Amino acid sequence: GETITVADLAQKMALKGGEVVKALFKMGVMATITQSIDHDTAALVTEELGHNVVRADASDVENELLAHVESVEGDKVARPPVVTIMGHVDHGKTSLLDYIRRTKVATGEAGGITQHIGAYHVETGKGVISFLDTPGHAAFSSMRARGAKLTDIVVLVVAADDGVKPQTIEAVQHAKAAGVPLIIAVNKIDKSDADPQKVKNELLEHEVVAEEFGGDTQFVELSAKTGQNVDGLLDAISLQAEVLELQAVSEGRASGVVIESALDKGRGPVATVLVQQGELKKGDYLVCGVQFGRVRALFDETGSQVESAGPSIPVQVLGLSGVPDAGDDFVVVEDERLAKDVAQQRDAKRRESRLVAQGGNRMEDIMAQL
Ligand code: GTP
Ligand code: MG
Repeated sequence: GETITVADLAQKMALKGGEVVKALFKMGVMATITQSIDHDTAALVTEELGHNVVRADASDVENELLAHVESVEGDKVARPPVVTIMGHVDHGKTSLLDYIRRTKVATGEAGGITQHIGAYHVETGKGVISFLDTPGHAAFSSMRARGAKLTDIVVLVVAADDGVKPQTIEAVQHAKAAGVPLIIAVNKIDKSDADPQKVKNELLEHEVVAEEFGGDTQFVELSAKTGQNVDGLLDAISLQAEVLELQAVSEGRASGVVIESALDKGRGPVATVLVQQGELKKGDYLVCGVQFGRVRALFDETGSQVESAGPSIPVQVLGLSGVPDAGDDFVVVEDERLAKDVAQQRDAKRRESRLVAQGGNRMEDIMAQL
């Protein structure tokens, strides 16, 4: 089946039901011992509790696919950080992303299809940085649902004239729960009523401790409007990335996550994916959620065609059979047969599980019902 009760899961791990309930609660899932949770949630909480996940029910093709991902060999090399920007309403998230995009992304080749894609990467003097241009919350719920780590660093924008607000605190909690380091962008310092010190003091109350207070969180004072000290933020990101020692295998079959997708009138299904391992190339066969296909073309954030993309680099993919969902994984496979088999089996399974009424045990569902 598609679900397991909390009690059964606890028994498999030789734990008390209450311990699993508690771990689930920490993940934001409210469930009682007798309730059922879906397999993805079960796998997540199992890992959270330090146990290995063996999916006895995984079909042969899924196992073959997994073997594909795991069989990618090669030396791990340093990879760029993937950054998500979060913050309270109007504190300047979009302004900051736009400023960096406008001033740091190399302009595309003449005649390139200029399109706003949901992620971009910039070259700085200290290396490449990738930014996800999706609402931070979406990145986190997708991470939670899939167990895939989409972002390495959260830049939390706090307007210096407004201070810490509910969504600031929420972002702190998300980042802490996911174990993702924060960098605080104290924004709008061009304003006369800016009070950056107040931001530091207020965040201290939420255990975000600035370096000057003996903590390890970098605070960068900047203005997304004038661009003042945005370079300082990029430096802070590079520094944090160095500390994290981010690595990935950069050769061989690629795998990663869909960031956004759409059906384009002229080009068909278009997916923006973030490569997390290996090298995605033109001509590759891939499974992408319940879709499959062969990479017909790859485009970077400037609309220029590229031949390939490595770890932490976002690219637009053309050539899929249909539009995948944001948060879906993608895996490059040897041949079209496997790609098609996996996609079709998944599709059948998904249809089947849609017919089974979802138990309203996710926090979001409970909230929605109120
Ligand atoms: P939401 O997407 O609605 O949550 O807002 P946001 O966080 O993306 O904020 P946005 O970038 O849209 O900025 C909100 C307002 O603040 C806009 O009017 C910006 O022009 C202004 N703003 C952003 N950054 C700065 C800054 O550094 N200085 C000043 N003076 N204004 C800024
Ligand atoms: Mg915005």
